Amino acid sequence: MPDIVIPEFMDESAVHEGLAQFDVLYEPDLVDRPDDLAAAVRGARGLIVRNRTQVRGPLLEAAQALKVVGRLGVGLDNIDVEACEARGIAVAPASGANDLSVAEYVITTAMMLLRGAYFSTADVIAGSWPRGRLMGHEIAGKRLGLVGYGSIARETAKRAAALDMAVTAFDPYVQADHPAWNQPFGRVVRLDFEELIATSDVMSLHVPLTPDTRNLIRRDVIERMKPGAVVINGARGGVVDEPALVEALHAGRLGGAALDVFDEEPMSAERAAVFAGCPNLILTPHIAGVTVEANRRVSWLTVQNVRRHLAGA
Ligand SMILES: NC(=O)c1ccc[n+]([C@@H]2O[C@H](COP(=O)([O-])OP(=O)(O)OC[C@H]3O[C@@H](n4cnc5c(N)ncnc54)[C@H](O)[C@@H]3O)[C@@H](O)[C@H]2O)c1
Repeated sequence: MPDIVIPEFMDESAVHEGLAQFDVLYEPDLVDRPDDLAAAVRGARGLIVRNRTQVRGPLLEAAQALKVVGRLGVGLDNIDVEACEARGIAVAPASGANDLSVAEYVITTAMMLLRGAYFSTADVIAGSWPRGRLMGHEIAGKRLGLVGYGSIARETAKRAAALDMAVTAFDPYVQADHPAWNQPFGRVVRLDFEELIATSDVMSLHVPLTPDTRNLIRRDVIERMKPGAVVINGARGGVVDEPALVEALHAGRLGGAALDVFDEEPMSAERAAVFAGCPNLILTPHIAGVTVEANRRVSWLTVQNVRRHLAGA
């Protein structure tokens, strides 16, 4: 019986070199075979997951020897943390290891959406030359509004400031006297939610999904946002009311959106159809935090976390 089960993909050198002293079952598609997964974890002390494995109910029930859950990322909404705590199972996220990848995703999509010129490949190949309708905006001088001012938001702020954006953020849990508001590149302006939505040219979401943040960006909020603003969600599905966003894009109320995370993941074709024909929309399959570099950092940090917990267990 394996000692450590890994039912989703991770950096293979971290598996083979970092966990060489353990009996490891690494099957990146095991997450899609719940019965096999439940059987595999029966004697396991370690379980390493990304965000698809639901570490709760029946899986936890099956994993009676479990000591540590290593999370290849940071959001813990696929893990019943309370149930783990009650059983003395440590939950170890890879905090900070994919911040840069998400921050680069935000800056890239913000520039693409503001400029609007990069979706013209098909037109140009077809022989049209649509310069008139492709005159977009510079990012310099625009105002970035970060909703949530934690680890990823701060990396994003640094890059936005380097591009001459004005950087603001809303986060009631980061007090006004916290040093994070004063960065080497300058001050990040602390706003309340209403000020932020009314003034942001680019609004980027960096909050966990909680009862307070579910549907934070909904119809009435979008109506109070700056006309033509761009919304980026690289945080969690459920924070944005997807039908309301689609409506606002079609109506031209919002200037564009980039969504990396969704209410339903993976999203069925039926569900995805709601986005069809939306102008200036970028959809990506929960990949903002996943690059070769981040995968390596996240995997090695998780290996260290799991090894540490098993050594002390
Ligand atoms: N798309 C991806 O690939 C990807 C990758 C990594 C992280 N994420 C997600 O990005 C989000 C941010 O991650 P992080 O590492 O920066 O987290 P973090 O914990 O460092 O920061 C989250 C911040 O949100 C704030 N917050 C919580 N509730 C709030 C509320 N109601 N209103 C305003 N602020 C609130 C907290 O005070 C905290 O400062 C998480 O949802 C995480 O799951 C996505």
